[in-house]
Amino acid sequence: MNERITIADFVRDAAASLDGNAHGYYRSGADRELTLADNEAAFDRIRILPRVLRGVGRRDLSTTVLGIPVSMPVIAAPMAMQRMASADGELDTARACRNADTVMILSTVSNTKVEEVVPERQGPVWFQLYVYRDRSLTENNIRRAEAAGCRALVLTVDAPLIGQREADVRGRFHMPDHLELPHIIEPKATTSSSTDSPESALNAYASDQLDPDLDWDIIDWIRERTSLPIVLKGIMHPDDAVIAADRGVDAIVVSNHGGRQLDTVPSGIDALPAVVGAVAGRVEVLMDGGVRRGTDVLKAIAFGARAVLVGRPLLWGLTVDGAAGAEQVLEILRTELDRAMALAGCPDLASIDRSIII
Ligand code: GLV
Repeated sequence: MNERITIADFVRDAAASLDGNAHGYYRSGADRELTLADNEAAFDRIRILPRVLRGVGRRDLSTTVLGIPVSMPVIAAPMAMQRMASADGELDTARACRNADTVMILSTVSNTKVEEVVPERQGPVWFQLYVYRDRSLTENNIRRAEAAGCRALVLTVDAPLIGQREADVRGRFHMPDHLELPHIIEPKATTSSSTDSPESALNAYASDQLDPDLDWDIIDWIRERTSLPIVLKGIMHPDDAVIAADRGVDAIVVSNHGGRQLDTVPSGIDALPAVVGAVAGRVEVLMDGGVRRGTDVLKAIAFGARAVLVGRPLLWGLTVDGAAGAEQVLEILRTELDRAMALAGCPDLASIDRSIII
């Protein structure tokens, strides 16, 4: 096997080794996958206009997110069912984030209990929250996340139902029988029991559980139940970003859910500037979607993101080498960002601004 020095190397090797069921689930996007592709292509359309002679011998990639120090502006996105990628799944991601010194966001749809993940990370974990029709399930997850020591709740707001990933439908995606979903009550509801369903069993189950009637009052409902900071993930429209800021959320994530929800929406990086402009510094703005290079991180920071989330690259890292693979993915991004900052004349994140982008 070739040496792995870029994220693309992990993409290649994971595709060669992961079974089609899991690979299809992780890789796919909604409908024609136009947004999925554009998340990466949009970064490639943006050009950096470097500055010179700015003394870049010592670079500082560190920052804070929600006041939490991180070694670089790259954090782990919430991704479902990580034990399809490696035996320890979310525990491996926790180890990688511990070694890389960055925040891990744990998915509601994880195969590992939050009570096990937080001690493994030995540092900041945020809990991604889906709100179910049965509010007691959600209430229970909030309580568990808080008791386990999570530092924030990340409410996913772009999923009143689950987008159609045609690969999952055609392939009848199913979570392997030996895995569990410990934050969702009926763990076996995603297994092959409904393989004759026209939809994948998971999509049918999740769409059935999720509350499509959520509105902005959900933020007050959550706030009545926890003192944890609230992050809204899945904001694309600047007007929604303003409402989020007015409602007092602590941060937002500009995200199209990895191109997995509504197809033909803009890429995360193309949606970012308007959102940053609209909130005018009132809340921290993070972004995700298509981050595959250090230069991508630099571009997101230049457009005003506090940090970026990476998702699929970590899954490919887990697939090829467990925790070490996920850690290597993070370290590749760190090294590439560091080099890009030096070459763009930016010794620290504060010096990366819109003037170096054309
Ligand atoms: C779940 O959120 C998914 O995108 O599969």
